[in-house]
Amino acid sequence: MDKLVIHGGVPLEGRVRVSGAKNAALPILCAALLTRERVTLTNVPRLNDVRTMQSLLSQMGVRVHATDAGTVTLDASNVDWPLAPYELVKTMRASILALGPLLARTGEARVSLPGGCAIGLRPVDQHVKGLQAMGADIDLTHGYINARASRLKGTRFAFDVVTVTGTENLMMAAALADGTTTLANAAREPEVVDLAGCLIAMGAKIDGAGTGCIVVEGVPELHGATHAVMPDRIETGTFVAAAAATHGDVVIDGAEPGSLMTVIDKLREAGADINVADRSIHVRGNGALRAANVRTAPYPAFPTDMQAQFMALATRAHGASVITETIFENRMMHVQELLRLGADIEVEGSTAVVKGVDRLTGANVMATDLRASACLVIAGLVADGETTIDRIYHLDRGYERIEDKLSALGARIERVR
Ligand code: UD1
Repeated sequence: MDKLVIHGGVPLEGRVRVSGAKNAALPILCAALLTRERVTLTNVPRLNDVRTMQSLLSQMGVRVHATDAGTVTLDASNVDWPLAPYELVKTMRASILALGPLLARTGEARVSLPGGCAIGLRPVDQHVKGLQAMGADIDLTHGYINARASRLKGTRFAFDVVTVTGTENLMMAAALADGTTTLANAAREPEVVDLAGCLIAMGAKIDGAGTGCIVVEGVPELHGATHAVMPDRIETGTFVAAAAATHGDVVIDGAEPGSLMTVIDKLREAGADINVADRSIHVRGNGALRAANVRTAPYPAFPTDMQAQFMALATRAHGASVITETIFENRMMHVQELLRLGADIEVEGSTAVVKGVDRLTGANVMATDLRASACLVIAGLVADGETTIDRIYHLDRGYERIEDKLSALGARIERVR
């Protein structure tokens, strides 16, 4: 199993280019199920989760061709096996995104229930309820969601909780439904907007993506399209935090700063000097870092996917930062690992009080989930001496060549097998 070995204490310096967004690419790959015609996607990140999604779609009968340059063409003229098996869903919960498009396109879908995952329970009841409201006949047997519908019907559906993939699933299903679907209390994440952009290019009629109320007027068929996946705002935020935490000087190119203003504002509050241009972000961490409080919530609030990385920075900031996680119930597993590096953190329920310390010291730590891994990378870059991070397969799910990108910024980081 691969590990990362980091010798910390080097400020990051230089320029780095952001990859396409994992969380936009995954639903957009599934959107290709909605048409018989070819869909071409560019700026698709080369990540394990993307490869898993491509395998899943291939198993269903979709012809998928991916190039090293991040272009993926999908031909779903033939979808003969509308199934997402447990073996794949358990490794990637986002497989649930196949449910809505499969059902809308083929009239049936069988998708494994994801089950628990490391960061919490993560139910999919809203996906199921929404599709039932659109007339789908759904039963849950043997751990699978079995769904059927001759043609889904437009409806008004209000989500009980704001769910990103739930919103995306229903938006895709509604694109081919009979009549108009109104999704209230919808997720406003930029990835939802990116998916809507691709669906609109495919001929869908969607209004309001990026607001809490999305209106989709169903059409009988969608057609092929070409779409460029948006830049990854969480990867961007991770580099911003890493640059600030190491007191570096980094320009992040190919970013979409507007999609992460809450993160930028919070890091400025913590003392980072950040200049934003149209497609780039310049971060200078020359001053002392100050404590800042963070509370995660749905977009446009501070993203849960940046909570762990912010905590890594807070371990070295002057004063006490109060970090509250409101989205997932078990997303503080990085705390135990940060303690091994000498951080001072107390957790009560889903709130962590992080008191800044003068130094972190390298140690062996273990990655527990994707964003926890990114947190440990930042902590390792800051810590004195050597940090070894085990179980970095989590990192490979969501970050493209992170060690190469960090090395190019001067970090002493290497992957060992
Ligand atoms: C997506 C992102 C993930 C991010 C999360 C929150 C993708 C592929 N993943 O995950 O990186 O951390 O949004 O921003 O885009 N919930 C229910 N019932 C449901 C669905 C969700 O109760 O049917 C709850 C969840 O348990 C959680 C909250 O709603 O507490 C938000 O989850 P959700 O937005 O659905 O997360 P994902 O879409 O899985």
